[in-house]
Amino acid sequence: MENIDRLKVAYFIDELKGYHLSDDRAKVLNSFVVWQNIYSSAAREITTKLENLNDEFKHVKDRNPIHHIKSRIKTPKSIMDKLIKRGFELSPESARDNLTDIAGVRVICSYIDDIYVIADLLTSQDDIVLIRKSDYIKNPKPNGYRSLHMIVTIPVFLSATTEIVNVEIQIRTIAMDFWASLEHELSYKLPENKIEAITLELKDCADVISNVDMRMQRLYNNTMLSENIHKE
Ligand code: GTP
Ligand code: MG
Repeated sequence: MENIDRLKVAYFIDELKGYHLSDDRAKVLNSFVVWQNIYSSAAREITTKLENLNDEFKHVKDRNPIHHIKSRIKTPKSIMDKLIKRGFELSPESARDNLTDIAGVRVICSYIDDIYVIADLLTSQDDIVLIRKSDYIKNPKPNGYRSLHMIVTIPVFLSATTEIVNVEIQIRTIAMDFWASLEHELSYKLPENKIEAITLELKDCADVISNVDMRMQRLYNNTMLSENIHKE
C-alpha cells in the first residue's frame, strides 16, 4: 500500500464492512478519497455562486429568493455500490464518467418563480454548462414528487490541472422540500399491505402542498403589486 494515506483509508473502512479490502481495492479507495476533495470543491463553488446571487438580490430587491442551501458528497461506499449495481468499472475515472450525482447541491427557495430565476441566472454564468434539466414541477413524478433538477459542469482549478466536474442541483420550494423529506423517510418504512393506500395519500398531500405553493406565489405577487402601486 505504498503512497496511500492509511489514515484516510482507515476512516472509510468501517463503512466498507462486507467489502474485501485487498491492496488493489485500498488503492482504488484512496483515489476516491482524492476525488472527494475535487467534488467538495465543485459543490462549494456552486454554493458560493448561489450565495452571491442571493446576496445581490437582497441588496437590489430587498429580499432573498433562496431560503437555504444544502450540499452533500456521495461517500466512497455509496459511489462503489452504485458503480457495482450498474455494472461499471470500479475507478474514480469511471465514477466521473458514469455518475452525475457525486456532488449534490439542494437549493430551497421561498416561491416557485424564484426556482426558475435562480436556475436561469446560475446556468447563464460563463463557466457553467447545463448538461441536463428535468422539470419535475411542470411534470411531477407519478408519486407527486416535485423539484427542478439540473446536471451542470463546473471547472475546478487544481495546482496542476483543471477538472470539469458534474454537479447535481435540485431546486425546490420550502413546501416541496417538506414533502420530499417526509416521503423519503416514509418510503423506506412502508408496510407491504399498506403501500398502495399510503402512496395514494402521499400523492394527495403533494397535490395539496402544490396548491398552497401556487396560492403563496399569488399572495406574493399581489403584495408586490400593491406595494408598487403604493410607491407610485
Ligand atoms: P438516481 O439514480 O436516484 O440519482 O436517479 P436519477 O439519476 O434517475 O435521477 P432523478 O432525477 O430521478 O432523482 C435524483 C434525486 O432526486 C434522488 O436521488 C432524490 O434525491 C431526488 N428524488 C427523485 N425522485 C424522488 C422521490 O420520488 N422522492 C424523493 N423524496 N426524492 C426524489
Ligand atoms: Mg441520485
